[in-house]
Amino acid sequence: MSHPTYLMSRMEREDSHTLAGYEAQGGYKALRKILTDPIPPQSVIETVKDSGLRGRGGAGFPTGLKWSFMPDREKDPRTRYMAVNADESEPGTCKDRVIMREDPHGLVEGCLIAAWAMGLDAVYIYVRGEYRLPYDRVAAAIAEARAAGLVGQDILGSGFSCEIHMHKGAGAYICGEETGLMESLEGKRGHPRPKPPFPAGFGLWGQPTTVNNVETIFNVPFIMDRGAEWFRTMGTEKSPGNFLCGISGHVESPGVYEVPLGMPARQIMDEFAGGVWKGRELKAWIPGGSSTGFLKPDAIDTPMDHDSIKAAGSMFGTGAMIVLDETASVVRSALVLMNFYEHESCGQCSQCREGTQWLAQVFQRLHDGEGREEDLELLRGIANGMAPGKTICALSDAAAIPTHSVLRNFADEIEEYVREGGHEAVMKKRQALAGAAS
Ligand SMILES: Cc1cc2nc3c(=O)[nH]c(=O)nc-3n(C[C@H](O)[C@H](O)[C@H](O)COP(=O)(O)O)c2cc1C
Repeated sequence: MSHPTYLMSRMEREDSHTLAGYEAQGGYKALRKILTDPIPPQSVIETVKDSGLRGRGGAGFPTGLKWSFMPDREKDPRTRYMAVNADESEPGTCKDRVIMREDPHGLVEGCLIAAWAMGLDAVYIYVRGEYRLPYDRVAAAIAEARAAGLVGQDILGSGFSCEIHMHKGAGAYICGEETGLMESLEGKRGHPRPKPPFPAGFGLWGQPTTVNNVETIFNVPFIMDRGAEWFRTMGTEKSPGNFLCGISGHVESPGVYEVPLGMPARQIMDEFAGGVWKGRELKAWIPGGSSTGFLKPDAIDTPMDHDSIKAAGSMFGTGAMIVLDETASVVRSALVLMNFYEHESCGQCSQCREGTQWLAQVFQRLHDGEGREEDLELLRGIANGMAPGKTICALSDAAAIPTHSVLRNFADEIEEYVREGGHEAVMKKRQALAGAAS
């Protein structure tokens, strides 16, 4: 297992979350460099573009390009914002909380550099409500930074000012969707907005806004300190850098590990997470959080980067791997996920409101032994009606994609559930077979 190269490199120190711990390890160096002998905002954006950094919140959108969508301040003098997405509600994803808990000043410095680059007036950090310690740590970091002249008015005497505010979510997956998040920040129900208009033109309170994930912003000070070329020495050409891989499920050592993009999933699973637990075989795995789809064991050598995982029939998403061993049931796992999506659908779009409910019901009846042969086609038809691009936001896709993946890769298990009469019967039969074999 390799040592953390940069993302987790400061976290080993006990005081890593304090200003003293951060500055002792080179913290705020990049911001000081940018503000002291000012590096023009456009150059900062160019460096982030050159680095090839891609968003770590799910879609992998190039960060520098997103920043360049913000209107020219000279021509458009409106107040402008960034919302940092710390909602982290995608099942399996558990990396942003590590950053906020262990290295909150890194996030604060990233926000300030982004603010300089995009000419922001304020940054809002929208934190999942359950994340109490991470929230407290970021709040304390902002307070410390403010006291040290790093946040607020006339930062480090440069004339540049930026506020950072925090907001607690109330536990809704939909509030992680960028426009749902903005509605929620405005004090409304977290209903995603139709796009266009896009946030860069009409975001928070109708002002130009950029939304970025915590890990994305956390990468920025490293890039500005060490350069775009250094960043490109890690990862792949189209997905440079390292990422925080949260790996959970049936592995010996679940956790969050710093991994170069492009490392084969098997290597991450075996070398970082200790392999499939209890000496069992791999049955299925999800590469990037619950919405990215189940893959078969034959895809486990796929490099973990955006293009390779896409070519293997799934998505890199948030890089959160979920591992299922040979005793697990994909039908039951899909049921758990569909119940989640049904519960979390905001209900604005009928395809999603009705579709997630139907998917949950069909997986439930397969599970309960009331499944029918036609259910495979029924599931396919429902999922086709939900995605792609048929709704205001991608929550509908997030339910349809894993459904399609089960139909593509584990149809035999659905057929087994229909034939044997549901979950209990399937499990009994498998246990009997395992007993006979041993
Ligand atoms: C239903 C739904 C939930 C989402 N939840 C999150 C989340 O919790 N955190 C996150 O960063 N992005 C989430 N996203 C993606 C955001 O909409 C957005 O693309 C992301 O924050 C952009 O940041 P990035 O460019 O830095 O990746 C979600 C998207 C959808 C459709």
